[in-house]
Amino acid sequence: MPGLFDPFSLKNVTLRNRIVVSPMCQYSAEEGLANAWHGAHLAGLARGGSGLVVIEATAVSPEGRITPGCLGLWNDAQAEALAPMVAGMRKAGAVAGIQIGHAGRKASANRPWEGDDHIPAGDPRGWEPIAPSAIAQGGNLPRLPRAMTQADIDRVRADFVAAAERAREIGIEWLKLHFAHGYLAQSFLSRHANRREDAYGGSFENRSRFLIETLAAVREVWPEDRPLSARLGVIEYDGHDEETLAEAIALVKRFKAEGLDLIDVSLGFSTNEAKIPWGPAFLAPVAERVRRESGLPTTTSWYISRPEQADALLREGKLDLVSLGRPLLADPHWPYAAAQALGVENPAWKTLPAPYAHWLARYRAA
Ligand SMILES: Cc1cc2nc3c(=O)[nH]c(=O)nc-3n(C[C@H](O)[C@H](O)[C@H](O)COP(=O)(O)O)c2cc1C
Repeated sequence: MPGLFDPFSLKNVTLRNRIVVSPMCQYSAEEGLANAWHGAHLAGLARGGSGLVVIEATAVSPEGRITPGCLGLWNDAQAEALAPMVAGMRKAGAVAGIQIGHAGRKASANRPWEGDDHIPAGDPRGWEPIAPSAIAQGGNLPRLPRAMTQADIDRVRADFVAAAERAREIGIEWLKLHFAHGYLAQSFLSRHANRREDAYGGSFENRSRFLIETLAAVREVWPEDRPLSARLGVIEYDGHDEETLAEAIALVKRFKAEGLDLIDVSLGFSTNEAKIPWGPAFLAPVAERVRRESGLPTTTSWYISRPEQADALLREGKLDLVSLGRPLLADPHWPYAAAQALGVENPAWKTLPAPYAHWLARYRAA
């Protein structure tokens, strides 16, 4: 089985290695527009040597932002601001991806370092969240969302399609749909959030409908030769895990039939009552099961930070790609350090662009 520094090809796209920068919100945009911060952040990650850099959860509509600082792709100016950053990422040797999503009932929140809680109703910085049902997330997100009408559902699906088209036009090669973490799509699937009595609620078939329709609509405009992936919360750790996971795996099989190329296994975050067993690579066994039963290429993240462990997860056939978040914030050059730790020949040339690799290929700190 291939390891961390073997290339990975999917559709017409080849990653230089199997390290993925997991999407990470920067909460640093205004009006959804990328700025100098995003440019520096993304350039650093691309230069650092990861194979794929997935740009943070980017809202398909203004009310789909988590916070007022989230990126958006609902207008052309936002696409134009991202375009040179995407070109720069490619120049540094990374494949540029983006995650598009809608925050649902978790929308209209303060930035994590400014409270991480809902902006109070009536505060002009916020807006009314929409969701499958008028049920609040609870905890620090108590605001009651407005239950979506059929027209809302149709409009948000079309917003996903329009955002995918903008991503396509600026040269993004890898699209990730945000179907996880208690945001809009996840909350259609979750019984914790969805009590609808129409075709979008109740049975598994109905709770899956919004996700499948959105995926199918996006696949129609997303080029056949570029990978389409989705991040799905497959488990909540709320005591109903076998049922949730079985449903999620059945859904991933449906996604595959609709043209999904890779699944990113993550958490549901639909209830505040969950008891999540945080620990090194704790989701890897779950991801392995999804991979085995669905037959789709798979990645996961969450507390994978040691190079040996990341490499072993691939070589043991549990994952196809390893996604990292915080380890890459701590050190964007984690891939270079990992290559050294694993004894990869010419670790600099395997991971870094020439202006850095040339100097580091034979350099050892004195
Ligand atoms: C600052 C920050 C922002 C994040 N934003 C997103 C996001 O936009 N979309 C998403 O799916 N996950 C997001 N996550 C979760 C990460 O993608 C990743 O799954 C998580 O941090 C676990 O991986 P790690 O243990 O390697 O950090 C975020 C995490 C962090 C730390």
